[in-house]
Amino acid sequence: MKDLFGKALLDYQNNNYTVDLMTSTNISDEDELPLPYLFRDYKAMPKLEQQALNLAKGKILDVGCGSGSHSLYLQSKGLSVKAIDVSAGAVAVSKARGVITIEEKALLDETDTFDTILLLMNGTGIFQTLDQVSTYLLHLKSLLNKGGQILIDSSDIKYMYLDEDGGFWQDMNANYYGELDYFLSYKGEKEAAMKWLYLDYKLLLDACTAIDLKCEMLAEGEHYDYLAKLSI
Ligand SMILES: C[S@@+](CC[C@H](N)C(=O)[O-])C[C@H]1O[C@@H](n2cnc3c(N)ncnc32)[C@H](O)[C@@H]1O
Repeated sequence: MKDLFGKALLDYQNNNYTVDLMTSTNISDEDELPLPYLFRDYKAMPKLEQQALNLAKGKILDVGCGSGSHSLYLQSKGLSVKAIDVSAGAVAVSKARGVITIEEKALLDETDTFDTILLLMNGTGIFQTLDQVSTYLLHLKSLLNKGGQILIDSSDIKYMYLDEDGGFWQDMNANYYGELDYFLSYKGEKEAAMKWLYLDYKLLLDACTAIDLKCEMLAEGEHYDYLAKLSI
């Protein structure tokens, strides 16, 4: 991995912001991911993220913290947060912005336990593919303290496959429609292709039920997105 995501965060943090990250998927054209959005403060966050932050309590894990925006807000409220990210650049930026407890680490390598685990900005993306959902959910469950909660957001992206007449056009041999190939480029460099999973609520609920995790829809956003709370 070239860590272009981390490089872009570092550029923004070091006042070298000239261009945005470019993203595309196997079902969508190139689009900008504005760097300022990755440094959003509480006011600029979507309602679902604000709601997740308002519900966070106890010892908190911010999974895939990016530039640390969620962790910084929780820290400012006096809460105890640990942030993790696989991107070295993201970790460096989060540290520089003041995140106190942060590690360069993949979610499956985390072993501490927590009262609240946050996975935000399409938190299910980290699971990558549908067949890895139960592995990730079982691991997340093992990181929960008694009475703990996992707050995770995602979207049902079925709308991206609807034609003008409302017909669903996905190839019958294809994988689950929320499983995307995700491409990222920055300043002319291309990152290795990644898998990124959007999981509709029904599938999340089924996967949780299968491993005895409670799953509750807390809120729905304006564009097929939702925030869910998972607990034991
Ligand atoms: C869409 S970004 C969201 C960043 C941040 N949560 C936000 O809302 O601005 C996803 C983040 O997850 C990180 N990530 C991806 N896979 C991960 C994994 N297995 N464990 C920990 N972090 C991961 C990426 O490096 C990236 O920083």
